[in-house]
Amino acid sequence: MGSVGAVFVLLSLALLSVLGVPPIGTQPEQVHISYPGFPGSMEITWTTFNETDESTVEYGLWGGRVFELTAKGNTTLFVDGGSEGRHMYIHRVTLTNLRPASAYVYHCGSEAGWSDVFAFTALNESCGWSPRFAIYGDMGNENPQSLARLQKETQVGMYDAILHVGDFAYDLHEDNGRIGDEFMRQIQSIAAYVPYMTCPGNHESAYNFSNYKNRFSMPGRTEGLWYSWNVGSAHIISISTEIYFFLDYGLDLIFKQYEWLKKDLEEANRPENRAERPWIITMGHRPMYCSNNDKDDCTQFQSYVCTALLSVCLLTGVDLELWAHEHTYERLWPVYGYKVFNGSMDQPYVNPRAPVHIITGSAGCREKHDPFVPNPRDWSAFRSTDYGYTRMQVYNTTHLYLEQVSDDQYGKVIDSIWVVKEKHGFSAWFSST
Ligand SMILES: [Fe+2]
Repeated sequence: MGSVGAVFVLLSLALLSVLGVPPIGTQPEQVHISYPGFPGSMEITWTTFNETDESTVEYGLWGGRVFELTAKGNTTLFVDGGSEGRHMYIHRVTLTNLRPASAYVYHCGSEAGWSDVFAFTALNESCGWSPRFAIYGDMGNENPQSLARLQKETQVGMYDAILHVGDFAYDLHEDNGRIGDEFMRQIQSIAAYVPYMTCPGNHESAYNFSNYKNRFSMPGRTEGLWYSWNVGSAHIISISTEIYFFLDYGLDLIFKQYEWLKKDLEEANRPENRAERPWIITMGHRPMYCSNNDKDDCTQFQSYVCTALLSVCLLTGVDLELWAHEHTYERLWPVYGYKVFNGSMDQPYVNPRAPVHIITGSAGCREKHDPFVPNPRDWSAFRSTDYGYTRMQVYNTTHLYLEQVSDDQYGKVIDSIWVVKEKHGFSAWFSST
């Protein structure tokens, strides 16, 4: 090669190193997993920007032969509703017959491109198991204060599942869906390792919640709007509070969700089911009660969400209700209809006589914090404007632990309670000492 040729090669290499390698549209990204709701299963979801011939997950038991198993799934074309009409391909593969509580190694993609290698632990199917959760809402692409700590804690194995109680990315659809792409890449370091379970928030409303419905894969056939699943001794119900506010997308959703919820609660309340999984936990984005100083629904005397769900939650003995939307943390005394029903003066959460409510929407986003009213009502037990998130462990059929982590205070636990219930269900409200 002459000197001119050598210079050309060097220039080409220099140019390549500056510009980078052109993106490969068939390369998987935004990998995340979720629990499909039946024993021994896990669903893997990812995105490519070009179509691929197939959607494949290659996996195997940790320590076993690498990728000895293969599962195939399907692809959905998602066209974002923005002016560019950007196309993305959402791939979904459901793994079945997983060995409970066993660790698996996997990658996903096709012969046109594979993801990095990730690992997850199949859920333990025993009712005697004590699953651990991280819970938060309102985490954005910008200012996601809690993300780094959550990434590390997830990767060291502190959680069995994540509950993201609505409001993602701010917003998934922005910049023609590019903010959504960026956010899904950000959470991959959590969501590719443990089931990332969601409910919709108001920030997902664009184009009839289409970015939310397409990007996540939740149990049931409602595109993640409402569903339930069992884990340990808990039955967890995810609902959409947004159907009460975005009425243009269909009034019928209000009736459909209510009918489904009633049926789901009746089923969970059958004596044999409640005996096995006595904790009924709901998660929904907008709280029934809050003491924030803004114009949100929960600051009204009787919020829409409260009106719609109050009686059904009481009658079926819902134990714990998780909310977000307010960019703060607030723990309530056991409350029903704005009245406090503590178990006793000394031990409010031992045999409480009404559901316990937690509002945890302070994971961090560009909207920063919401202010509190200076003098909260008597049902407000603890409030914090620190960025952070909640940890929960469903310890056994009688004991459930909750604590609040502050990111502003470098991971310090700033609040904690044990909820103790010797009895669950409607009759539990009358069993206090
Ligand atoms: Fe919200």
